[in-house]
Amino acid sequence: MSRKVNKIGVLTSGGDSPGMNAAIRAVVRTGIFHGLEMYGIMHGYSGMLNDEIFQMEGKSVANIIQRGGTILKTARCMEFMEYEGRKKAYANLEKRGIDGLVIIGGDGSFRGAQVFSSEFDIPCIGLPGTIDKDIAGTDFTIGFDTAVNTAVEAIDKVRDTADAHDRLFIIEVMGRDAGYIALHSGIATGAENILIPEKKTDINEIVESLAEKEKRKKLVNLIIVAEGDEFGGANEVSAYIKEKLPKLETRVCILGHIQRGGSPSCMDRVIASRMGYHAVESLIEGRHNVFVGILNNKMNYTPLNEAVKKKQRINEEWMKIVKILAS
Ligand code: F6P
Repeated sequence: MSRKVNKIGVLTSGGDSPGMNAAIRAVVRTGIFHGLEMYGIMHGYSGMLNDEIFQMEGKSVANIIQRGGTILKTARCMEFMEYEGRKKAYANLEKRGIDGLVIIGGDGSFRGAQVFSSEFDIPCIGLPGTIDKDIAGTDFTIGFDTAVNTAVEAIDKVRDTADAHDRLFIIEVMGRDAGYIALHSGIATGAENILIPEKKTDINEIVESLAEKEKRKKLVNLIIVAEGDEFGGANEVSAYIKEKLPKLETRVCILGHIQRGGSPSCMDRVIASRMGYHAVESLIEGRHNVFVGILNNKMNYTPLNEAVKKKQRINEEWMKIVKILAS
């Protein structure tokens, strides 16, 4: 059912991702274009609870499309998980007459929005902001493209030093539950092996192939490990390989949070702008409690309560390509 929206609040929640600022800009400017009052909420749900809310103008979002991080800051908020916390948060919206919300974050942030909206009857629209690309209902998440390109740039640099010293490098990329960054960056950098949470790895097979490569003097090898792989990350994988092949010169490199920062890629700026625009259009059209995605280059709307972590279906052909090309 359609109902008029007049004042929209926007917040970023969970882990930040490059392109969140471009999304905030799109939300604020689309709202202002339609004559709505726009409000920024600092520090995610925590700022909603603590009344860190301020009115935004078109110029509040000037010069941010190219910036990483989020001008609204972000947080993971435990208090919002309790009813009393959400009640306090709602009171802060109510006193300003805020009657619509845009939440930029991951699946956990969307589930919080769904509960909040069902308790307090405030329409919420989600925008998928996460470098992990692990939300079902969209082909893209804001930040993935930048993060994976940051990883590729860093891994290329590691390859230079690996080559100079004839070393094996085990490189850990982000992805607590998902291996998209590992799979894409691994293929793009010509890695020999890619370890991801979605697929069981035969580590002894890796050891055997490294031993065989050692014999034929192929000493430069890159193994990409998602932080959430079954062994517990690059250090653990390295310890196992070192024990089996003590003569192989091995180093570990953990890329960590550099993958979350930096200026967003063109792709992330474009999808953030499209999604941000459609978030406000959705609220105006009376679409409630969905998150905006892009599937097959078309806008796609998934109910917030169906926001689930996407488990990647492993394309065995991709794995075969990795093996053949790295031999
Ligand atoms: O959700 C994005 C992500 O970068 C994960 O890949 C990673 O495990 C996690 O956030 C790290 O979170 P934090 O910065 O809170 O340690």
